[in-house]
Amino acid sequence: MARIQLSAIAAFAVFLALAAPSIAGDPDMLQDVCVADLKSSIKLNGFPCKAEITADDFFFAGLKKPGNTNNPAGSNVTAANVQSFSGVNTLGVSMARIDYAPGGQNPPHTHPRATEIIFVLDGVLEVGFITTANKLFTKTITVGDVFVFPRGLVHFQQNRGHVPASVIAGFNSQLQGTQAIATTLFAAAPPVPSDVLAKAFRVGTEEIDAVKAKFQ
Ligand SMILES: *[C@@H]1O[C@H](CO)[C@@H](O)[C@H](O)[C@H]1NC(C)=O
Repeated sequence: MARIQLSAIAAFAVFLALAAPSIAGDPDMLQDVCVADLKSSIKLNGFPCKAEITADDFFFAGLKKPGNTNNPAGSNVTAANVQSFSGVNTLGVSMARIDYAPGGQNPPHTHPRATEIIFVLDGVLEVGFITTANKLFTKTITVGDVFVFPRGLVHFQQNRGHVPASVIAGFNSQLQGTQAIATTLFAAAPPVPSDVLAKAFRVGTEEIDAVKAKFQ
């Protein structure tokens, strides 16, 4: 009897796994709106809903102006995600504007929770992503072009023009999350042990420490 029940449960589990739609983004919403109450002390998967909302909760003017690219990477990501634009809470979307100085780059990074699609507003960019099979897909794109970076894969954008460049990015997540490879490895706090990185990069700890010093 117990054996029959177990095999029935196993068969049902297989059926469920096959029948379930695959989810490639944030969980689906359960109500029309849920503007994030970013000040709530309640911790859950997302943000609780604000009680009083207005049209302004669904409005964001912060992508009009270029971000300041006077930094070591020569780029600036201005985010319109749930942290700056609380109206997108539970909606599974967000945007960003990325500006690049001449020679600037958005360094190799991943978004654990979103695919990213970009539209070029200005300039010429070399963009690319690397699959888990270690194959690079790269392209030089210009004004009006669109490129997509699959969720979770390492990707980058490099300004190849002599003038500033900019893109608008869309994400299928209210908060895509960004893990920049170099800062993750060389500027974590507390630091990733230098001997761990030396072994991984097949160099000495002095070289690792020299790179770490650049990120201080
Ligand atoms: C991006 O630009 C904004 C607005 O100019 C500025 O406040 C911010 O410090 C810049 N971020 C970086 C990393 O340079």
